[in-house]
Amino acid sequence: MHKLPCLKLLSIFAISALISPAFAQHRHHNNSGTSASNPAASAPWMNTTLSPDRRADMVLQQMTLEEKIDLLHGQGMPGWAGKPMPNANLSNGGAGFVLGVPRLGIPVIQMDDAAYGVRFSARNGRYSTAMPSNLGSAASWDPQAACEYGGVIGRELHAQGYNMSLGGGVDLVRQLRGGRTFEYMGEDPILAGTMVGNRIRCEQAAHVIADIKHYAMNDQESGRNQYDAIIGKRAMQESDLLGFQIGISIGHPGAVMCAYNGVNGDYSCENKYILTDVLKGEWKFPGFVLSDWGGTHSTVKASAAGLDNEEPLDTYYGSKMKEAVQSGAVPMSQVDDHVHRILRSEFAAGIIDNPAQKSVVEVERDLKIALHVEEHSIVLLKNAHNLLPLDPAKIHSIAIIGSHADVGMISGGGSAQVDPPGSTNSAWQSHVWFPPSPLKAVTALASGATVKFDSGSDPAAAATLAGQSDVAIVFVNQWSSEGMDLPNLSLPDNQDALIDQVAAANPRTIVVLETSTAVLMPWIEKVGAVVEAWYAGSDGAPAVANVLFGDVNPSGKLPITFPLTEADQPSPQIVAPPPGAQGRAAVMRTGVAKPTFTVHYTEGLKVGYKWYESENKPVLFPFGFGLSYTTFSYSGLQVEPDATPTVTFTVKNTGDRAGEEIAEVYAGLPASANEPPKRLVGWSKVQLNAGESKQVRIAIPQLYLSIYDEQQPGWKLAPGSYSFMVGGSSESLPLVQKVNLSAAIGTSSGQ
Ligand code: BGC
Repeated sequence: MHKLPCLKLLSIFAISALISPAFAQHRHHNNSGTSASNPAASAPWMNTTLSPDRRADMVLQQMTLEEKIDLLHGQGMPGWAGKPMPNANLSNGGAGFVLGVPRLGIPVIQMDDAAYGVRFSARNGRYSTAMPSNLGSAASWDPQAACEYGGVIGRELHAQGYNMSLGGGVDLVRQLRGGRTFEYMGEDPILAGTMVGNRIRCEQAAHVIADIKHYAMNDQESGRNQYDAIIGKRAMQESDLLGFQIGISIGHPGAVMCAYNGVNGDYSCENKYILTDVLKGEWKFPGFVLSDWGGTHSTVKASAAGLDNEEPLDTYYGSKMKEAVQSGAVPMSQVDDHVHRILRSEFAAGIIDNPAQKSVVEVERDLKIALHVEEHSIVLLKNAHNLLPLDPAKIHSIAIIGSHADVGMISGGGSAQVDPPGSTNSAWQSHVWFPPSPLKAVTALASGATVKFDSGSDPAAAATLAGQSDVAIVFVNQWSSEGMDLPNLSLPDNQDALIDQVAAANPRTIVVLETSTAVLMPWIEKVGAVVEAWYAGSDGAPAVANVLFGDVNPSGKLPITFPLTEADQPSPQIVAPPPGAQGRAAVMRTGVAKPTFTVHYTEGLKVGYKWYESENKPVLFPFGFGLSYTTFSYSGLQVEPDATPTVTFTVKNTGDRAGEEIAEVYAGLPASANEPPKRLVGWSKVQLNAGESKQVRIAIPQLYLSIYDEQQPGWKLAPGSYSFMVGGSSESLPLVQKVNLSAAIGTSSGQ
C-alpha cells in the first residue's frame, strides 16, 4: 500500500500547493475506499456542509486531463477477456475498480456485484449473506423489507472494503424465460420501482454508491450483446422506463448501468434517447452512467449520448478519449460533465466522508434479516382442505423429497452468485445450495415426528416413502443464471413426474418451489399445497419451515403472473440470435457498431397481467395473488378525487389467526386513454389480529394515473372517468368506485 510520502511536510503547504497538478505525477493510490489519512482532509471540498455538486465542481477545477480520464474507465476485472489488469494491486477483488485522485483525496471506486448479496467473498476469505432473490423479495410488496435488504448489502459491501454496489436490477419481466428474472423485481413498474428504490435508498445509506440496472429493456440473455429491442416510446415510458424512473426518484442511486442490448437502433450505452433525453433530461438524474461490462461501443458517440464511465476497461474511454478531447471530437465540457457526475455521486453517497473500512460482517444480524425477508416473500399458492399449516401434534411421519433438500436451498447463478459459507469461489454458472437444509429445518419443528429424506432421483422410490408417510413435502427447483435463458417454463430433470408419482401415492403432498420465475404445474390438481419459496437465500430453509408449521402466516403475493400455458405469453419463444451471430467477445473485438438482430416487443406496455387481461387469457395464478392461513374481507371504498386521489377502504381479518394482507388498488383509465383494462396504482400491507378491522388510506401519486404523451413529451392525466378497484389480487377486486378526474389536476410533470 502506497501513501503520499511526506504528509507532515504537506500539511504545512498551502492548499494550492497540495493540489498542484505537479502531484499528478505521483498518482499513489491505496486500494481501500480512501486513505486512512486523507491528504486533502482540509481542502475546501471536504466541507460537508456544501452540496455534493459544489464539492464536485471544486475538485473538478483542480484536475488534469489525465486525472479526469482516469475516472472515466475501469481498470479491469480478474480474468476479463484475458486482459491484464494494469493496476491489479489496487483491486479489492471485486468486479471492477476506477482509479481515484489521491492528491485530491478522491478514493478508488471499488465495485462489486451485489444483486442479492456481495459476490466474490470467498476469493477474499470473507463471508456474505445471501438474501432471497430480488424477485422473491418483490413478493413481499414491503418497502421496509426492501430497505432492510439493501441495508444488509450496503453494510456488507462496506465491511468488505467496497464503496460501490452493482445491484438494483429492475428491468420488467416481459419474458418469463429470461435467465435473469430472479435478479429483477417483477412485471409491474410501480411495484418494481418502489421495491428497488427502497432497496437502493437503504443500501446507499451505508455509504456505498448504489446502481440501478440494466438500463434498458434487458429482458433476455440470448444474444444479449447484439439484440435490438424495438418498442414505441410511449410503451417504453409506461413500462420498463417507469420502473427505473420510480426507483431513481425513491432511491437516488449514484449510478445507472446501461445494458448490453440495443434499444430502437442504438446500443443502450450510446443511446441518446434513453441516456440524455430521458434519464438526464426528463428525470434530471444527477449521477453517472456506467456501461455494463463490455457494453461500450464507441468514444465520440457514447460520450455525446451520455455514457460517463466505461467498464471494465479503457477500450474507448482511455487513450481514445484523450485523443478525442485533444482533437476536439469530444468537447472538454462533456468530459467535465462525466467527471462531475462521478464525483458528485461519491460525495452524495458519502464514500469520501465515510470511507469503506474492512471489518467483520455482523453475520447473526444479517441472517435474521434474510430470514425475515424470506418469510415475507414466500407465496402460498394452493392450500386444499387447509393441509397447511402442519400440526406437529398430529403428524407422526414426514417424507422430505427432492432438490438436495438434505443440503440446502438453491440460488441463482452468474454475476449475482453469492458464495455460500465455507465454499471456495463459486464458478460463474454453477448450482449452489445454501445451508441449512430443509431436512434439518423441518425436523427441528416436527417435534418428534419421523422425518425421512429421499433424493427423488427414483420417483418410484420417493413415492413409496411418501405412501408410508403422513405428509410428503417435495422440494423442486428451476435453476437459472445470467448468460443463458431457460429452455421453457417446465420444471427440469423429470421433477414433474416426481411430483406426479409422489402425489399419486399420497394426496397430502406439499410442493415447495425454488424457482427463478414462473413454472407450469401440470400436477396442480393432484397435490394438496404449493408454496413458492423462490431462491430463498442464506436462511431460506428455516423460513420455509416456519411457514409450513404456521409459526409464520404467509403474506407474500406474486410479483409476476404464472401463465396457464407457454403459448399464452406475449412472446412464447425467446428470439434467438441468427446463425453465425457473434458473442460478446467478438462484438467487443470487432467493435460492431449497431445491434445485429431485432426483438420486437409487440406487447408494448401490456406487460404481464396487462397482457393476459387485454387478451382474455386465463392464467394459472394471477399477479398479486397469494393465500394466507386466515381470510380477509374488504368494504367501504371511498375515493377522493383530489390532485393526489386518495383511496380509503376497510380490511377485516375474517379468520381465526393473525395475519398480514397486502391490499391492492388498481385503476382503470378513461377509454380515451387507450390503456389496458387496469394498472396497479397502490397497495398497503395491513397487519390484523383475528377478527380485527382496519381502515386503510392510500394516496395515489398522479404519475401513477397518467399516460405518456410522446408529442409533449411528458406525462399527462387523461380527463374522464376512472375506476378504482380494491382487493386481494389483480383478479379479486370486490370494491369498485368510479370518479371523474379532470385534466386540471393533471398537469403533472411526472416527478
Ligand atoms: C453483468 C452485470 C454485472 C457485470 C460485472 C455483467 O456481465 O451483466 O450485471 O454487474 O457483469 O460483473
